[in-house]
Amino acid sequence: MLDKPESFQTDMSHRDGVFISTYGCQMNVNDTERMYSLLEMVNYEPVNTPDQANLIIINSCSVREKPVHKVHSEVGRYRKMKEANPKLRIGVAGCVAQQEKKRLMEDMPIIDFVIGTDAIDQLPDVVGRVRDQGEKLVSAKFEHGKPYQIETLNRNPGVSTFVNITKGCDNFCTFCVVPFTRGRERSRSYAELVADVNTLTQRGVKEVTLLGQNVNSYKSVEGYDFGALLKGLATETDIQRIRYTTSHPKDFNRELVQIMQDHREKICEYVHLPVQAGNSEVLERMNRGYTREEYIEKAQMILDTMPGATLSTDIIVGFPGETEQQFEDTLSLLDIVPYESIYAFKYSPRPFTKAARWEDQLTEQEKSDRLQRLFDKHNEIAFGMAKKYEGQSLKVLVEGQDPETEKYYGRSTQNKTVYFEGTGDLTGQTVDVLIREAFPQTLRGRLLL
Ligand code: SAH
Ligand code: SF4
Ligand code: F3S
Repeated sequence: MLDKPESFQTDMSHRDGVFISTYGCQMNVNDTERMYSLLEMVNYEPVNTPDQANLIIINSCSVREKPVHKVHSEVGRYRKMKEANPKLRIGVAGCVAQQEKKRLMEDMPIIDFVIGTDAIDQLPDVVGRVRDQGEKLVSAKFEHGKPYQIETLNRNPGVSTFVNITKGCDNFCTFCVVPFTRGRERSRSYAELVADVNTLTQRGVKEVTLLGQNVNSYKSVEGYDFGALLKGLATETDIQRIRYTTSHPKDFNRELVQIMQDHREKICEYVHLPVQAGNSEVLERMNRGYTREEYIEKAQMILDTMPGATLSTDIIVGFPGETEQQFEDTLSLLDIVPYESIYAFKYSPRPFTKAARWEDQLTEQEKSDRLQRLFDKHNEIAFGMAKKYEGQSLKVLVEGQDPETEKYYGRSTQNKTVYFEGTGDLTGQTVDVLIREAFPQTLRGRLLL
């Protein structure tokens, strides 16, 4: 637990409101929760809308151009609020903060502080100084020399929660800004993770999702690799379900899938395996470390070793120099690998990255057309694929009840969202649901008693 900074030891009767808006991946969702927890310890109270807050933090993402624009326009929206409320302080955290550092404040002087991705635990101190002394602060250094110790902080972890296992990334895919915004890769210790998961389980958590940019390269100080970590958490803790994201195809091996299969009662049979492109030359220029054929082989190995497993993927269309023929190789991959869902994006040139400097960039129109063709193709396939669930009974971990329809919802081990009717308090229980109607993103069914 962190000590309260001195600037906050004073007036505990008054609580300032804090509002954090979150962009980007699950890491940011988890970091936002950490920020709320840290700020609560120093007497801030989370509020639901920015106009109730004396502290607004934008937890930003810079993986593509759009989220960066959103940060700028969101800051712009607070200008009037700041003029009306002299107590209001505005900060930017996350990947844009790390990438832009003090430049953000120079461009948008209404920003009071910028806090990088490695500096979150300094937030109470930074906020204290900004609030009480009116300082303008930038804290965005990477802590490369320090071990990665970060007990999960979560005010109300609920049924399912995220647990960071690694941070940073050393892969330097030529399109990706993440190695520059999250720094070098580091792993938490095995012992700390077991203790963390045990604590969460005691607080009622039933499912953890282990997070890392490339979970497969997890390597703890005790010498555990990712497979050993999964096995250890499945056998040495009482957690009921384990998920993880994201895997890197180059580091994904049979041994890991065998561990998943052997501990299937706990480790969910769902793998998000980002392919990025279906053509080997494009993959090489992306610096992904695998070919089309190697990827297909691994996907097949997963489905053979773990029958009934589901796959999803990330795809970038319109990477510099991508020809029509190369794009068609990405389309044809969908006929070979049965992805239940795809997350596809237009290539977006990012600062510091190699591919952004290449001259053979595609036009926006070409990228948009390809994205549409890819989604059309997947839609054609996805309905048919979902139909196989009709008539099946799935194990669903109930996460809550929809306030409008009063239907319960939860996820199956395959990561499908399932809606069903039920009575009593089912939240947190694992129940069997017979699927009656299946759509690509959601399933509807009947509770089996
Ligand atoms: N670590 C994960 C990816 C993190 S970023 C992995 O290696 O798979 C999430 C996704 O954003 C990526 O999988 C990729 O599909 C997409 N992405 C990253 N950089 C991008 C860029 N410059 N343009 C478009 N999409 C990008
Ligand atoms: Fe980015 Fe590649 Fe690292 Fe994923 S593996 S975060 S795509 S550099
Ligand atoms: Fe975005 Fe940073 Fe995550 S760039 S996707 S918030 S690691």
